[in-house]
Amino acid sequence: MALPDLAALEADARRELAAASDAAALDGWRTRYLGRKGRLTGVLRGVRDLPAADRPAIGKGANALKGTLEAAFDERREALLRGASVAQAAASVDVTLPARSLPQGQLHPVTLTRRAMEGVFREMGFDIVEGPEVEWDSYNFDRLRIPRDHPARDMWDTIWIDPEDAGGPAEGAEPPPRRLLRTHTSPMQIRYLETHRPPIRVIVPGACYRYEATDATHEWMLTQIEGLVIDEGVSFPNLKGTLESFVHRFLGPDLETRFRCDYFPFVEPGAELGIRWGGRWLEVLGAGMVHPEIIEAAGLDPERYTGFAFGMGVERFAMLRYGIDDIRYFYANDLRFLEQFRGSAT
Ligand code: PHE
Repeated sequence: MALPDLAALEADARRELAAASDAAALDGWRTRYLGRKGRLTGVLRGVRDLPAADRPAIGKGANALKGTLEAAFDERREALLRGASVAQAAASVDVTLPARSLPQGQLHPVTLTRRAMEGVFREMGFDIVEGPEVEWDSYNFDRLRIPRDHPARDMWDTIWIDPEDAGGPAEGAEPPPRRLLRTHTSPMQIRYLETHRPPIRVIVPGACYRYEATDATHEWMLTQIEGLVIDEGVSFPNLKGTLESFVHRFLGPDLETRFRCDYFPFVEPGAELGIRWGGRWLEVLGAGMVHPEIIEAAGLDPERYTGFAFGMGVERFAMLRYGIDDIRYFYANDLRFLEQFRGSAT
């Protein structure tokens, strides 16, 4: 009787296992080699019928082969499972589907309006500069001719950063400087004059803060555009012409305007500009001729140099531009409101 050829059996088993590519083929392979009537099982069972001299070697070899084939089977099954999940994942990605759109930001209506206003001023020959929002009280008030304890300070309810010195300054001593959130952009008049000489023609856009109750037309934060023009021979008619020209370009050429007297400590004379809107007069900005003391404090001869300044609220112009009746919408962060300006031109 011929001895079983274990090498041939292993070769057949490996070749067939490599060809098995699905669960049914794997099952069939296992039945054929390792099942109750499988080839290897048959060899193991036949060992006892072999000549005694051959039994130990064949028995040992067949047992070892059993372990080898079982391990090969497990390995093959795992490889097939891995391959299947990769193929499944690949099949579930459909590269021809339209892309999911990502949420995209947009400019805020006040930003759109500020940029549009800046554009008009730029066309009129103004430079654009910015200044600090945290400001010294000397720039926000004193050098604008609004001294400490002067009732004019009440025009600007101030958010202070530094506390008021509890004990108060010693007799005759200068009070310590205090920082605040600027209540208007006018401090930049002083700052700009520190570093520039006439001819000056700038606007200063930026956020300002006022500690006051909010209502439909007032917020605790507002965006202003300050204007400053200083040169030889600048007159009140220049102020009027510039501001009328601005509102006509921005809101419409047929707009009716009126100037009335107003008081700001840093201008003389001071004025406010009103526009006829919805059958009523609406004040849209403060202005005036730069006070001669401010020109002199900047080291310029007020007999030679004159100028005008103005300050306007961007939110107010945004309300007019878009027909919005409550300023609080701008900062309530309600997307239903904000998304209406998607794609709006500046
Ligand atoms: N700074 C003033 C305000 O905020 C406006 C203003 C600016 C008035 C410049 C005159 C000249 O109320």
